[in-house]
Amino acid sequence: MIGSYILEISYILASIFFIVGLKMLSHPESARKGNIIAAVGMVMAIVFTILFHKKDGQSIGNIGFIITALLIGTVIGWGVAKKVKMTAMPQLVSLFNGMGGACAALISIMEFPHIAHGGEYATMFSGEVLNILLGLVIGTVSFSGSMIAYGKLNGNVGDLRIKWLRYVNMGMLLVIIGFIGYIMSLGTIPPGEAMFLVYTLVAISVVYGVLFVMPIGGADMPVVISLLNSFTGVAAATGGFLYQNQAMLTGGILVGSAGTILTVLMCKAMNRSLLNVIVGVFGGGGVAAEQGEGTIKEVSLGDASVLLSYSQKVVIVPGYGLAVAQAQHLCHDLEKLLEEKGVDVKYAIHPVAGRMPGHMNVLLAEADVSYEKLVEMDDINPDLPNTDVVVIIGANDVVNPAAENDPSSPIYGMPIIKAHDARNIIVMKRGMGKGYAAIENMLFFNDKTRMLFGDAKATLQKLVADIKEL
Ligand code: TAP
Repeated sequence: MIGSYILEISYILASIFFIVGLKMLSHPESARKGNIIAAVGMVMAIVFTILFHKKDGQSIGNIGFIITALLIGTVIGWGVAKKVKMTAMPQLVSLFNGMGGACAALISIMEFPHIAHGGEYATMFSGEVLNILLGLVIGTVSFSGSMIAYGKLNGNVGDLRIKWLRYVNMGMLLVIIGFIGYIMSLGTIPPGEAMFLVYTLVAISVVYGVLFVMPIGGADMPVVISLLNSFTGVAAATGGFLYQNQAMLTGGILVGSAGTILTVLMCKAMNRSLLNVIVGVFGGGGVAAEQGEGTIKEVSLGDASVLLSYSQKVVIVPGYGLAVAQAQHLCHDLEKLLEEKGVDVKYAIHPVAGRMPGHMNVLLAEADVSYEKLVEMDDINPDLPNTDVVVIIGANDVVNPAAENDPSSPIYGMPIIKAHDARNIIVMKRGMGKGYAAIENMLFFNDKTRMLFGDAKATLQKLVADIKEL
């Protein structure tokens, strides 16, 4: 009896740890601590469950298997997380997401016979069956969708841009809903038949997960990643309902709701509708890059140094290339140097710059850039016409004007940082390589644009040294 009280209290404490941890994740300075606090909550919930959970007076069995599985998972997870590069974070998130979804789906498959089978016949019409079937579908879609997202982010899976796929996906969504209704309407059926229907539902959900992520590409991947993240949370929450486990329920709801809020914010940031995400349709016609027209103009290091040093207002637009080059510290050096010369320097932060939500914030925080210097896209855009120089460091898609003026572009409709409004534009990149969306960027051919070619770290190093000499 006392054990069950301890267990309940540990779940409440774990839930509090999750909530406090999540709250702390909202600021770069407290995020690391928040992560640890939430992890402690999870460890506590797991340990206390193993020690005190009882069903029909029986303690948990197979402790040896459970601990071995926990150890294997911990070692693999720890190793992968230690080794992963910051730029490969979305792949890792997708993989972990997929694993979470698969766990929720497996729980549903394992528990279905226990819940639905009443003696010789399975009883289908109940809240518990609905809960299990929802967990099964959402978890499975999250798993198969995340695996495709992983492949896409890794560059192993291409986009499948077929217009009619949206109708197939809408149809499949309706089939899944209808199939759940059909299973539940059956009343009582033999257990064997019930399990056959459940496996059929798994198969349809796997196909739907694959098909809804396949057409999404280019700049829109972040939206689908956060949607899959929220799916995993919801699927875990159904497990919490099933086991009447508060910690699992709270954890699932927190992940589900945080993921949903992030998805809605991402949709807003990308100017996409949630329905389009769910049926896997984005952007314009998916026409790949037109050939760049006009001439590319380069700027010498000396001219760039003078232009920057004698400006009043400079805005730095960081992008994925800055993270690849690991040039955030030098970027901060440039900012400090210019500020010492009386230049007002700010950073323009696009919500999907880099490869994960908040990537640029985390990257710049690592280099001790003051949080106040980071200005969100919607707040900085009105200032750009009065900005002397915009310095684009390893960014491409997030400043691509095609999003505003080319309806055939796959990124059409996505809000961008309007670098083209500034008086001068300096672009630091290695060559004419494309961005994540693999399309041409006409900003590089703009009359006001000057290219400073080279690896961002090497270029910034030279630029900082040059400005110091002025
Ligand atoms: P991108 O459009 O990906 O462009 C990055 C640019 O950096 C490339 O054109 C590349 O050109 C340059 N670059 C690469 N390495 C460099 C280096 N060492 N030094 C200097 N430049 C370098 O980046 P972005 O503007 O940040 O946009 C992000 C894109 O990723 C968006 O399309 C977004 O939707 C997508 N995405 C975002 C996320 C999240 S959640 N943020 C997740 C997945 C996908 P060169 O090869 O010529 O150097």
